[in-house]
Amino acid sequence: MSASANNVADTPLDVAAIKADFPLLSRQVNGQQIVYLDSAATSQKPRQVLNALNSYYEEINANVHRGAYQIAEQATSATEEARAHLQRFINAPSDNEIVFTKNATEAINLVAYSWGRTNLNEGDSVLITALEHHANIVPWQQLATERGVEIRWLPITDDGCLDMVDLEQMLDGVSLFAFSAASNVLGTLTPVRHLADAAHAAGALCLVDASQAVPHLLTDVTEWDCDFMAFTGHKMCGPTGIGVLWGRAELLDAMPPFLGGGEMILNVTREGFIPNELPWKFEAGTPPIAEIIGLGSAVSYLESIGMDAVRAHEVALTDYALCTLKERHGDDLIIHGPAATGDRGGVLSICYRDVHPHDLSQVLDQRGICVRAGHHCAKPLMKVLGVGATARASLYIYNDKTDVDLLSDALAEAGEFFSHQPA
Ligand SMILES: Cc1ncc(COP(=O)(O)O)c(C=O)c1O
Repeated sequence: MSASANNVADTPLDVAAIKADFPLLSRQVNGQQIVYLDSAATSQKPRQVLNALNSYYEEINANVHRGAYQIAEQATSATEEARAHLQRFINAPSDNEIVFTKNATEAINLVAYSWGRTNLNEGDSVLITALEHHANIVPWQQLATERGVEIRWLPITDDGCLDMVDLEQMLDGVSLFAFSAASNVLGTLTPVRHLADAAHAAGALCLVDASQAVPHLLTDVTEWDCDFMAFTGHKMCGPTGIGVLWGRAELLDAMPPFLGGGEMILNVTREGFIPNELPWKFEAGTPPIAEIIGLGSAVSYLESIGMDAVRAHEVALTDYALCTLKERHGDDLIIHGPAATGDRGGVLSICYRDVHPHDLSQVLDQRGICVRAGHHCAKPLMKVLGVGATARASLYIYNDKTDVDLLSDALAEAGEFFSHQPA
C-alpha cells in the first residue's frame, strides 16, 4: 500500500456538494443515515438525471424516428444528441458505432449472437479471463454448446491481476479475446491496450467489458484500439434499462441484425426485408427513449466533475480504505485483489474473520451501510479465490472518508457481535 491511513492524498472532489445532488443519499434506513457502498452493483442517480427523465415525459414524450410533428422531432433530436454525446465521451470515431442496448449483458449477447454465430464454428476458440462477470462468460458458453467453440481461460495471479505469462500461447488460434477492463469483484484494472495489441498480433478481435471502467475512468476506445466495447448506464449515474455496445463500423456493418422488427429495417416486403443502416440496424423496436436521454444527462454530470478527478478521488479514497481497514482490523480482515491502488478501482471484496458475508451485510444494514454479499455474478472467480461469497463495499464519487470510517466501525461491531454467538 502506498500511503498510511494518516497520510492519504486529499480527494480533488467536493464530496459534500456531490452528495447533495443525490436525493436518495439524504434518506435514512433502519433509523440511520444511509451509507451507500454498493455502486459496483448500481450507482445512485443525481437530480440532474432524474430531471432529464421527468422533462422527457412532461415535455416531449413521443416516439422517435417516426412522427413529423414537433415533440416527436424533439424526442428524436434528444435521443440522437445523447448518442453523439456518448460517442464523444468514449472517443469513438463515429456516432454510427454507438448501439443502444438494454444493458451491458445485452451488448455482449449481441456480439455473441450476431458476430459469433456468423464467424465461429467448431474448432474456433474464444479466450476469456478468470476475472469475468457471468455476462462475459455465459454468452460464450452458449456459443460453445451450440457450435462446439472452445473457451480458454486466462488465469490470474495471487494478488488478482491477470497472469500474462502464457498470453501469447493462449491467444494462438483464438478468434476473439473477451475481457473486462475492471473487475467487479477484485477491482483489478486490466492493461486494455496491451491486451488488445496482443489479440491483434495473434489475428484475433477483442471485446472489452467496460461496465466497471466507463463510470470510473477516462475511457478512450481509439486509444485502447479495441474492436467492441460494452458498458451499462445504471452504474454511471444513468437510469436502468440502457446500455451501450460500441463496435468498429466495418465489423458492425458486416454483422447481421440481432433482433428483428420495427426501426431496424429500411424496407419490408412479403419476400423479405432490407436492414437499416448503422446503428439502427441493431435497435429493433421502440428504444428506451427516456433512458437514452437520461444516460446522456449522466454523461454531462460526470463530465462536469471531470473523469480525471473521478479517478483521482477513487484512488485517494481506495488508498485510505485499504490502509485504514488493514491498520484497524489486521488479520481479521482479508481484502481480495491488488494491493496497489494504481492497479485497481474502489471495489473492496471483504472476508471478515469467519463471519458469513450475508450475516456481515445484515449487521452493516442495521447501521445503514449498504454493501453487497454473494458471488457477485462471478462464480468461476469465487472458485479461484477459494470462497463461496464475499462482502463487497464499492466506492464512488459521493463517498468520503467518513463512509469508510463508518464501515470500519461497523465491521468491528459485527466482529464483537459474532464473537459472542454460539458456534
Ligand atoms: C464487469 C461487469 N460486466 C457486466 C455486468 C452486467 O451489467 P448489466 O447487468 O447492467 O448488464 C456487470 C454488472 O454487475 C459487471 O460488473
